[in-house]
Amino acid sequence: MKSYPDHKGNRISRRDLLQRGASAGALSLLPAGLRAATEARVPLTARNASFQLAPSGYAATGIWGYDGGAPGPEIRVAQGGRVSRRLVNELPQGTSVHWHGIRIDNAMDGVAGLTQQSVAPGDTFDYDFVVPDAGTYWYHSHDRSWEQVARGLHGALIVEEAEAPDVDREEVLILDDWLLNPETAQIDDSFDHPMAMSHAGRIGNYVTTNARFDFSRPVRRHERLRLRLINASNARIFSLQLNGLTGWTVALDAMPLPAPVPVEQDLVLGPAQRVDLIVDITAEDGETAYLLRRGGDNRPVSQAAFPVSGSASRARRAPPAPLPPNPRMSAPDLATARRLRLVMAGGAMGRMDSALLGGERIGFRQLAASGRFWAFNEMAEMTQEPLGDLSLGELVRLQIVNDTVFPHAMHLHGMHFRQVRADGAASPMRDTLLVAAGETREIAFIADNPGDWLFHCHMLSHAASGMMTWVRVT
Ligand code: C2O
Ligand code: CU
Repeated sequence: MKSYPDHKGNRISRRDLLQRGASAGALSLLPAGLRAATEARVPLTARNASFQLAPSGYAATGIWGYDGGAPGPEIRVAQGGRVSRRLVNELPQGTSVHWHGIRIDNAMDGVAGLTQQSVAPGDTFDYDFVVPDAGTYWYHSHDRSWEQVARGLHGALIVEEAEAPDVDREEVLILDDWLLNPETAQIDDSFDHPMAMSHAGRIGNYVTTNARFDFSRPVRRHERLRLRLINASNARIFSLQLNGLTGWTVALDAMPLPAPVPVEQDLVLGPAQRVDLIVDITAEDGETAYLLRRGGDNRPVSQAAFPVSGSASRARRAPPAPLPPNPRMSAPDLATARRLRLVMAGGAMGRMDSALLGGERIGFRQLAASGRFWAFNEMAEMTQEPLGDLSLGELVRLQIVNDTVFPHAMHLHGMHFRQVRADGAASPMRDTLLVAAGETREIAFIADNPGDWLFHCHMLSHAASGMMTWVRVT
């Protein structure tokens, strides 16, 4: 029987759990503080809901949302604080919640089938963890995620710095796309479509910010905003530009940059990636400033509009200061690092002619017939053995070879990494890296968080069809 680690990392079996649960007065054995937390736990209910997603005139759309919302409720907590939520599953299928990017206790990571059992319909699961790092995160379903995230099961998780940056206000912008039936405005339910799985993933036809196609916020000239951008789409890579806004990138995937970087080129945001910007409204009174995205034919279209009325101040301010660094951000010395390699293969128009599935070598056509289009190191499924069996504190260099004709957004759970650059300079810490078609990249990280951690493509249909592996840290 598979066992799952408890909060302290001890491995316990389901039978132990059942016995503990059954023992009379088990709750009274808990320390008082923990007991209070257990009783006061705020529910996070995954359920059906219906709301006006498409423009008025269209029918309301049936979604699956946390507390019935799309996005789900924003969860906001101070750095070093606790998130304590009881997942209540009112969906017709099993589910779990992953807290993306948090350097979390492994038992709370929410990966159904790896760190916990899927939470069955009608059941609950208590998530309780400390957030060591400030930044912009998100939470989303991690069970049949290619369906559940597409149906709306995601929300923002914001961890506030002890000292907030000097801005007038902030906006959390969740960028998403939905695949809607253009007649009925209902979510297209061809989640397992081979086309999405074998090509770029499920790309929506209805692009939104905070579930609005016409997202807009009034601002004043010279106002300074912090924008927390989260790409919650299944597979879309956003290419963004500022217009009437002067901006600096201050954090990527939650982790502060050592110095703000002026936004001069397109901001590319792969699935699951986040970027924190500080922007000054430089458009004139009466104009509209925009966050633009490249739409069809690369033409810029509005992702978020900021109509300007009035002025916050006469003059522009000095450039922003960097955000305070998070703990454990030192750049590792790579000389002694253990080396690992991951070759991604498969997909439409790829070169993969066979891979291993269920211990057998299988031809591409047959793999496709079993819904497997991709492989990591020739394995078209999660392996029994981890990609790396790492000891706590070990330094790892992982080469990622993209031998396919599609980009992939590679996400490591539980730990942030840095890309290894040829010139040896430290690149930003991230938890998700876009690897372009045909490209080879290398990441380095310190295996400083014990547990079993998933490493997968965040184009969620790719993960579902072969692009998933894991590392173990003990
Ligand atoms: Cu954002 Cu494995 O997930
Ligand atoms: Cu992929």
